[in-house]
Amino acid sequence: MEAIYLIGFMGSGKTTVSKALAKKLEVDVYDTDMEIVKRAGMTINEIFFHKGEEQFRSLESEVLHSMPVTDAVVATGGGIIGSEKNRGFLKGKKNVVFLQADFGAIMDRLKGDDTRPLLSENKMEAAEELYRSRLPLYQETAKIEIDTSGKTVSMIVDEIIQRM
Ligand code: S3P
Repeated sequence: MEAIYLIGFMGSGKTTVSKALAKKLEVDVYDTDMEIVKRAGMTINEIFFHKGEEQFRSLESEVLHSMPVTDAVVATGGGIIGSEKNRGFLKGKKNVVFLQADFGAIMDRLKGDDTRPLLSENKMEAAEELYRSRLPLYQETAKIEIDTSGKTVSMIVDEIIQRM
């Protein structure tokens, strides 16, 4: 099986869905953020703060290109599609799934979360702008778009398998 890549905004459920999907398909699961943290020996917040976003993005691209390409589900960071190189890489893949969620639903889900440097309550307007500007990039990059609103994790997993 060719690897399945999950893309979408922060809080769209990529990590949760990737685990359930990998379990159902009996393949390995990877998360680009977790891999970055492992390689850098720092949290995402620490990387942004001490090294800056540019370094984070370069690590992120490196990690994406080094993920297994078969028998795996790969959850990606919400900003992975910011780079043209990453978009090109993903467009060449068969199974790229965009988990679409409303901005309001995302903000509700991530209330109180302080692990995402680009998403704090005092940056709401900037976050919404980021969400809007990224939407077309997720859409042009993915082969499959799933509207996650009102769906359970297991419904989303079944829909991905059915539409692959
Ligand atoms: C980011 C999303 C985060 C993480 C970092 C930057 C983004 O991943 O990579 O905080 O630019 O959207 P999740 O999408 O898993 O939250």
